[in-house]
Amino acid sequence: MTNDDLIIKIKKIYEKNRRHYKGYSYTIPSEDTYPYQWFWDSCFHAIALSYFDTAQAKAELRSLVSAQFKNGMIPHMIYWTRLKDHPFPTIPWGKRRTSSITQPPLLAAAVRRIFFATEDLDFVREMLPHIHNFHKYLYRHRDPRKSGLVGLINPDESGEDNSPRFDEALNLSDPKHPFVENFSSRLTLVDDWRKNRFVVKHRMDERHWVRDVPFNAILVESLAITSELARICNETHIAQWSYDHSEKTKRAMRDHLRDANGIYWSNMGYGTSTRKIQIKTWAMFMPLYAGVASLADAEYVVQHFLTNKKEFFTKYSIPTVPVSEPSFDPNGDWRGDWWVGTNWRGPVWMASNWLVVQGLRRYGFDVEAQTIIEQSRQLVGRYGMREYYDPLTGEGHGADGFTWAGLLLDMPL
Ligand code: GLC
Repeated sequence: MTNDDLIIKIKKIYEKNRRHYKGYSYTIPSEDTYPYQWFWDSCFHAIALSYFDTAQAKAELRSLVSAQFKNGMIPHMIYWTRLKDHPFPTIPWGKRRTSSITQPPLLAAAVRRIFFATEDLDFVREMLPHIHNFHKYLYRHRDPRKSGLVGLINPDESGEDNSPRFDEALNLSDPKHPFVENFSSRLTLVDDWRKNRFVVKHRMDERHWVRDVPFNAILVESLAITSELARICNETHIAQWSYDHSEKTKRAMRDHLRDANGIYWSNMGYGTSTRKIQIKTWAMFMPLYAGVASLADAEYVVQHFLTNKKEFFTKYSIPTVPVSEPSFDPNGDWRGDWWVGTNWRGPVWMASNWLVVQGLRRYGFDVEAQTIIEQSRQLVGRYGMREYYDPLTGEGHGADGFTWAGLLLDMPL
């Protein structure tokens, strides 16, 4: 597929999936499956749009931050209009217009990308308080012990809803449990938090608590980007605060999530007792994205895992879970016909590829990054704009007409 073909394909789906509501506009990830606005999806959309429609890229983020809570949290879903005849399940979030959980902090990365495309400093100034307030929320409400690591209250906050990293926290011991079981455990968490009015701060120790590697790595990078952007805007307080917190979380990741081999694992626990979750997923490569890993640690995971056929080196890279894990499920077949198989237990996703590629390039693994980009383009070219792909055959699964292929525009060959 040539670059021109790719842009035409992406433009088409972005136009088809654009929605307008009372002066706001946003892009839905997929008409059939995801008919609302999602937080990290909107950041991906803004990044893709910055290559061909910067006005819409800004509009996407303006719609997103318009739903920011007073306490700074950005909800992971915004229901601009509720659709009655759509199979998307009704989830009792306890809020009318939005969900009550969040997603990874990629807003600063999206704003920086728009700034690179437009040099519009006013837009950066407009977004900066939203980004900063969200960061402050994360430390204030998700790190009550001031460890430097922020915790998730629901796996969906990672963006990887059913990743096996969360099985233990959900008390799911069978690595091949049916999707419906996974979904209902996550709903139980929503119910529990809703009943407790989402007062997260003082209850984190008693409830679901996973300090996740990708989320914290994305936060480290988000703060570093914010510090840069704030400096350009002469916002010295935000610049310094963001820099200090980026360093703090970077240190905490090194101190608490790294093992003796240099592999980073998410951890979970209650109170002061924590335990590393040693389930291999693509998260192993995320310390590279934020410059948290040492060069030796980066080389270790690339050699032993990324380029190892018994782990992540499949026909199409990179599987979200390696072939060696008992939970590995290459095509999202959950042995059931319930709703949709959102599957982070093996398939390749464009967002994880995009994040890993950036990390590999940061450490000079250009050949490995190139392989992932070429394979990503093949997947979209041959199998269409799908939610995720089988790493063994390339076949597309899950939602169709899915927007995340737009991230290919930000992965130059
Ligand atoms: C699925 C994905 C999540 C995404 C959402 C909308 O739930 O797991 O990451 O934000 O769909 O595309």
